[in-house]
Amino acid sequence: MRPRSFPITAGFTPVDILHWQVRNMNNSNEQYIGKQLVANLFNHSGVFVLPALTLLTGEHIRLISQHKIVLEPQDVLQVDSAAFYQLAVDDCTAAMENIFEQLRYTKTKRLPMLELRNEVIPFIQQVSEKNDFYGILSALQTKDDYTYRHNVAVGIISTLLGKWLKLKPEELSMLTIAATLHDIGKIMIPAEILTKPGPLNEEEHALMKKHTTYGYEMIRDTVGTTHMQALVALQHHERMDGSGYPFGVLGHRITDFSKIVAVADIFHAMTSDRFYRTAAPLYEVLKQMDDNAYSKLDPYICSVFINKLMQSMIGNEVLLTDGRIGKIIMILAHDPLRPLVNIGEDFIDLSRERQLGVVRVLSQ
Ligand SMILES: [Fe+2]
Repeated sequence: MRPRSFPITAGFTPVDILHWQVRNMNNSNEQYIGKQLVANLFNHSGVFVLPALTLLTGEHIRLISQHKIVLEPQDVLQVDSAAFYQLAVDDCTAAMENIFEQLRYTKTKRLPMLELRNEVIPFIQQVSEKNDFYGILSALQTKDDYTYRHNVAVGIISTLLGKWLKLKPEELSMLTIAATLHDIGKIMIPAEILTKPGPLNEEEHALMKKHTTYGYEMIRDTVGTTHMQALVALQHHERMDGSGYPFGVLGHRITDFSKIVAVADIFHAMTSDRFYRTAAPLYEVLKQMDDNAYSKLDPYICSVFINKLMQSMIGNEVLLTDGRIGKIIMILAHDPLRPLVNIGEDFIDLSRERQLGVVRVLSQ
């Protein structure tokens, strides 16, 4: 780590020089975003700045530059993509657990937006920037922390979906926060209901449904949030045909953000192990979502999601209904769940060979 000197000092005030130094350090430090610190980081006066193994976000880089530290290659560890996704998602999950648990015991229920913006959102944005959906999925697999990891997962999946739907950057960051907070109302639900190792009875289910209105009220009453974000907490279980809750409204009364988060929420819930059932295979989930695309979910959002997820699986092997194993070569936009697959010297277009189908996707 080395300090940098200002090139020409004549005619510049000390404030100019300081700004130049911070900007310069920021530029040179930025290349280390997404890497991990090797050791505890101290500034030139010996003040502790960040602990060893911190996964560096843009926010950390700003902090490091403010301390006039210039990082060098030996200060960081190279992290491969899979390890980066896992570290980032684990860090976010721990931060979400902190936020949930703090809120559970505070009276006012105002959300710590600063903590969320600094400790969770930058990681979610960085992971989403990679655009490698299939690679990200295994990091989103829940352990015994579904309640917290699910919020992070829905934040990441919704952000990817928002990008694919070509949202403007300011809409996208609003969506990321809304999606990450969509289930925040669950802090008002007793833990024994959240972690019950079996289906909920009628009374418990009625109580569970209230997490939507609780979440709406908490986000609405927090300074620095928007009405649209509060509506996502309220509406993410509403369905296009009016079969959802809490109000059973029809599709035209559900906001686009809520429709995006609903797709991400359903996908992650179905592909996760829960206390009372194991995860459904990925391909099975996509087929079910496709079946629901014209009744419960927004058909356009759902088709973009399925298309992009299938595209991220090009190169993966699939088990076919006749027992053969093929490799996904191309995704056909009009029928993404029936890709073109390669077996030996043959190329099979599953969109034409309707007697054949995919049983499941195998790993790469
Ligand atoms: Fe929910």
